This record gives sequence, C-alpha cells and structure tokens, in this order.
Amino acid sequence: MTVSRREILSAGAASAAATAASAGSRAPRFLWGAASAGHQVEGNNVSSDAWLLEHVQPTVFKEPSGDACDSLHRWREDIGIVRSLGLNAYRFSIEWARIEPEPGQWSLAMLDVYRDMVDRCREAGITPVVTFSHFTSPRWFAARGGWEQPDAPARFAEFCDRAARRLADGIGYAVTFNEPDLQPLGKWALTPPGPKALAALAAMTAAADRACGSDRFSLFTTGPWDVVGPNVLEGHRRARAAIKAARADLPVGLSLALPDDQAVGPGSRIGEKRREVYEPFFELARDDDFIGVQTYNRSRIDAHGTLPPPTGARFTQVGDEYYPEALGGAVRYAHAATGRPVLVTENGVATEDDALRADFIPRAVRSLQAAVADGVPVVGYIHWSLLDNFEWFSGYGPKFGLVAVDRQTFRRTPKPSAHVLGRIARANAVV
Ligand code: FCB
Repeated sequence: MTVSRREILSAGAASAAATAASAGSRAPRFLWGAASAGHQVEGNNVSSDAWLLEHVQPTVFKEPSGDACDSLHRWREDIGIVRSLGLNAYRFSIEWARIEPEPGQWSLAMLDVYRDMVDRCREAGITPVVTFSHFTSPRWFAARGGWEQPDAPARFAEFCDRAARRLADGIGYAVTFNEPDLQPLGKWALTPPGPKALAALAAMTAAADRACGSDRFSLFTTGPWDVVGPNVLEGHRRARAAIKAARADLPVGLSLALPDDQAVGPGSRIGEKRREVYEPFFELARDDDFIGVQTYNRSRIDAHGTLPPPTGARFTQVGDEYYPEALGGAVRYAHAATGRPVLVTENGVATEDDALRADFIPRAVRSLQAAVADGVPVVGYIHWSLLDNFEWFSGYGPKFGLVAVDRQTFRRTPKPSAHVLGRIARANAVV
C-alpha cells in the first residue's frame, strides 16, 4: 500500500491529537500557521519592561519598537491574511503588561481585545495558539526583581488565571513560556556573550533601575539563571494549573528553543548540553499535553563543545548557518525525550532574499514529513513569522516575515514565500 504525503501528515495529526489532551475534541487536522508575539507586532507596549529598556541610556536595543506593526489596531487584517493564505492556525501572545499594567490593576478592556482576537480566529476557521509569556513582563514586575523574586511564579499564575478564565474556551493550544531555555542555551553558543556584551546589559539594567527608582530590575532573559531558572520552572507548573483550572481539556505546553544538535566525532559533549539546557524543561513537559519546538538552525558539538559551521556553509541575515533540514532532527529529539506530541511553534529564516525563504520552507517541511512518516506525532507547523517585525535587540533589521510591512503606512504585502507555505497548507503536504 502506498501512503501519500498528504495522508502522512493527516495521520500524524490524528494520532498526535489522540494523545494531546483535547485536540481530539476538535477536528484533528494538521495545523499550518504563522506566528507573532505581542511586543514584536502590537506597538506602543508602554507598560512593559522591554519598552523601558528600549528608551533608557545606555541601551543595547538598536532602535525602539515604537508602533511596531500596529497590530493592536490591525489584528483583524493580520488574521485575514492568515486565512487568505490558506493557513489554519495563528500563534500570537497576550501581553501581561497590557492586562495588568500596574500591580493588581486588571484591564478588562484589554482582555476583551484578546477575546475578540480568539473569536475572530475561530470564525475564520483558524486555531488560535496563544502564548502567555513571550519574553516580556510588566515594567512593575521587572522593577521588583522579576523572576528573581520568590513570589514571581504566583504573580504569573494569577495573570494566567485571569487571562485563561476569559480566553481558554476559544484557545486551541496554550503555550505558557516562549523559549525559557534561551539563557542556558546561550552558554553553548559558538561565541557566548563576552564581558563587553555582559557589561552593556548590566549598564542598561542599571539605567532601568535609575528610571524606575529600583535597585533590582531583572529580566526574564538575562536575570541570574541559578535564581531565575527554578522560579520559571515553578512558574510553568503554576501557570499550567491555572489554565487547566479554567479549562481542563485545553492542551497546555511550553515552547523550547531547540536547534538540531548533532554529535561530531568521539566523546561529543552533546549529552552534557542536553542535560544542562533542555532536560529540566523536558521533565516538566512530560506532564504537559505537547512540546513546542522552535528551530532555526543546527549545532554541531564535538568533544570540546560547539563547532563553527562547516566550510562552505551559507549564512542567514542573523549569522546562523542556513540549514532548513534542522527541523526534522529537533522534532524527533523533542518527542523521543518527552514522549509528547510535537507542535512546531516557530521555524523560519532571517533574509532579505525571499527566494531563500521560499526554498527554506519546503525543505524544512520535508524534514518534518520524514519524521512524521517515521512515527513522530506532530500536530502542526507554525512559521516564524507572519510579519516582518521588531526583532528585539536587532530592531527592524532582520526580516523573518512571510509578509512585508511598510514602516510608514503599515501596509502589509505578502511575499511569494507566503504563498509557498499556503500551497503546502492547502495540499496538507509538500507535493
Ligand atoms: C525566537 C523568538 C521570536 C523571534 C525569533 C526570530 O527566538 O521566540 O520572538 O525573535 O526567535
């Protein structure tokens, strides 16, 4: 019997959905989507820690986020684009800083906006994948010590409780944290942040302290990991409980930054890296409904550590090796390590040359299809990013979008690669 690629992805989604708590209660179709994150697209996220850091002196941000893509006002158009491309999933995040701009002050109006987004997705036949923490926190939370504070998990869980009670019944998949492993992963980078970069971060944080009369301003992505790490793990447990209390059958998980780690030569340190970086999160994920995978490149590791890309490698706009097939390896590993179904919550490439993205997408998806054909349960593929947007410290330089955004008029223009993904989605496979 021959099985077409189309059937392979459907079968993957069906078996994965049967495992993922409630995805089975809705039609088990493979999700094809695009992703965004609040701070990167909404604009004027003025109560957030990131906004403050963009405006202090000195700062490591190349430029401020400003209006971003004005998606706070244009989200209907964004969802319309997702639909018109033929995709059936949209991943976005909700901004804690907008929902609780001051401690204990809850914005019901802002919760209504996110509720409208969830509802509009549903009306358009799009599954909303909602991230509760995508790097940013309210400014007040960072000023009181952020994730270094012992009660940080409880504060975050309270936010998740409020948000989930308003949104949970419409959400398809809930992601508690985006890339909580980024800090430990950074230590294994080819060139980990050196003294100069660390001093620049410290100077920016000191400026933030001065700006808000604090002596402990602390960020999710840069606070001391020995203190922040355990609190973030506890934050996930409590967030998951809060979301499940609102809707027990809503699939909940977290999304990890997960390069395709490849062992090179005898005595590779790959096992050490995996234990140190991912294992604490995999331990949590084994009790989750799915594991979110975010893959951009591979990492080759020998007996000494991380190797530079091989001779002849091509590079992306942000200096990563261009290696679309990384996705398949990362997804296989995430499932083997956790036993959970996989949702690809990010995968993409920074490039000004959209033809490269059009080449990247089918190659990455083929590597995913091969994993599915080998029995890995995968519930969906969500591309980063829907829009060219605010790429954190790098500002508006790197272009990850399927859709270009005019920085003056905010006009959205789908690129040819968006239609490449759309065709794959409509066919439910690379054909
Ligand atoms: C991921 C982040 C996302 C975006 C992409 C390029 O690490 O989750 O916000 O910055 O990288």
